[in-house]
Amino acid sequence: MSQDAFRLTSPDGKSLDLPIHRGTCGPDVIDVATLYREQGVFTYDPGFVSTGSCSSDITFIDGEKGILMYRGYPVEQLAEHSSFIEVSYLLLHGELPTAEQLAAFDRTIRTHTMLNEGMLRFFNGFRYDAHPMAMLSAVVGSMSAYYHDTTNAEDPEHRDIFSHRILAKLPTIAAAAYKLNIGQPFMYPRNDLNYCENLLHMFFAVPAEPYEIDPIAAEALDLLFILHADHEQNCSTSTVRMAGSSGANPYSAIAAGIAALWGPAHGGANEAVLSMLEEIGHAKNIGKYIEKAKDKNDPFRLMGFGHRVYKNFDPRATIIREMCHKVLAKLGRKDTPLFDLALELEQVALNDDYFKQKNLYPNVDFYSGIIYRALGIPTSMFTVMFAIGRSVGWTAHWREMISDPKGKIARPRQLYTGSPPRDYVDIAQRK
Ligand code: CMC
Repeated sequence: MSQDAFRLTSPDGKSLDLPIHRGTCGPDVIDVATLYREQGVFTYDPGFVSTGSCSSDITFIDGEKGILMYRGYPVEQLAEHSSFIEVSYLLLHGELPTAEQLAAFDRTIRTHTMLNEGMLRFFNGFRYDAHPMAMLSAVVGSMSAYYHDTTNAEDPEHRDIFSHRILAKLPTIAAAAYKLNIGQPFMYPRNDLNYCENLLHMFFAVPAEPYEIDPIAAEALDLLFILHADHEQNCSTSTVRMAGSSGANPYSAIAAGIAALWGPAHGGANEAVLSMLEEIGHAKNIGKYIEKAKDKNDPFRLMGFGHRVYKNFDPRATIIREMCHKVLAKLGRKDTPLFDLALELEQVALNDDYFKQKNLYPNVDFYSGIIYRALGIPTSMFTVMFAIGRSVGWTAHWREMISDPKGKIARPRQLYTGSPPRDYVDIAQRK
């Protein structure tokens, strides 16, 4: 990082030169770390709209140009040529693997898919209708109780073991949650299958009859996981970094990230898109819902539209839209009307002045739910699928954060707007 300076002059004429850091791509950042010490003021940026919370080598987004790169590789190229397992290696280790490295990594992930039987019994304690995201965050949090012998963040071997366990076991935990919801027996993982085939097996096979894995379904899942694998300092990733910065064990940090992902403004949006499309029901109602989305007094928002960073288009949405056509042509005839409704809604919104002026474009979640549904995955599992893909990004960021020699506990400050100092009032005197 080369440096320059940004001169800040306070109202009383005191000036302070703040260093400017240049990354390899993207806007420069002004280093305000000395501001409070030198000038006695904090910066104020609710929602971190203009704030870089860390430096990172993992993922780059240019929201104006619609660029997303993992370790410098454009996501379009990875989506076309790579696999989720290879992308996972890239995110975790910084470079694409050689054939031997990939084979070894793939073998490691395949052979860590089983859960401790005690952990499986956790699922007996959940209500049959528990939301799978609630189960996912609880069970991932509990992994620290099972694997506490390998949670020393200072030990690179422990960090690797943790990374492999998260990636390998998340589909198994997700499948256990799903089987509980539908009252079917849990299917143990099959290590002869690849990552996505094994997930489909654990979700959809039953002990009573053979289950044939559809290669298009496995391919679609693999693509979705690649597209969801990382997205720099988004809400859940920042949560993982923040929780982990206290030295908390990494399973707890990932559980915190899962909880953050669940919200409808973040990973919960793919579930919300499907509910919204079902509520709209028919193309004739689109106009009414567009008006609701524009009405400041109506809390309704067009789910799957808009993004904090992408202000032109979401490159993931472009890739996924094509996959939607492929999957629906092969698997999802009954969902074609829903997809047609989505495409019509997309067109109306894209041609509407409100959406054009505010740069609101369809994001990745506008389409991902339609694919998941065509694969037979129920709506309540959509955010779980997002979590499986994103788990490798969270893990890569936790590893980067924990090995940063300049790392500190994340501890923001505030603008206090509460009562000025006042004296305690005895209860008998209170009105
Ligand atoms: N429908 C209607 N109006 C919208 C929408 C929408 N989906 N999104 C933003 N706006 C309006 C918003 O009301 C605001 O208007 P004004 O300037 O008049 O107050 C303006 O556009 C800017 O929006 P914002 O809420 O200030 O933008 P943000 O960066 O804080 O929020 C967002 C980004 C993604 C939370 C938001 O666009 C949203 O709620 N979208 C719907 C939920 C969604 O699809 N989320 C998935 C994001 S992609 C997956 C992921 O990475 O998690």
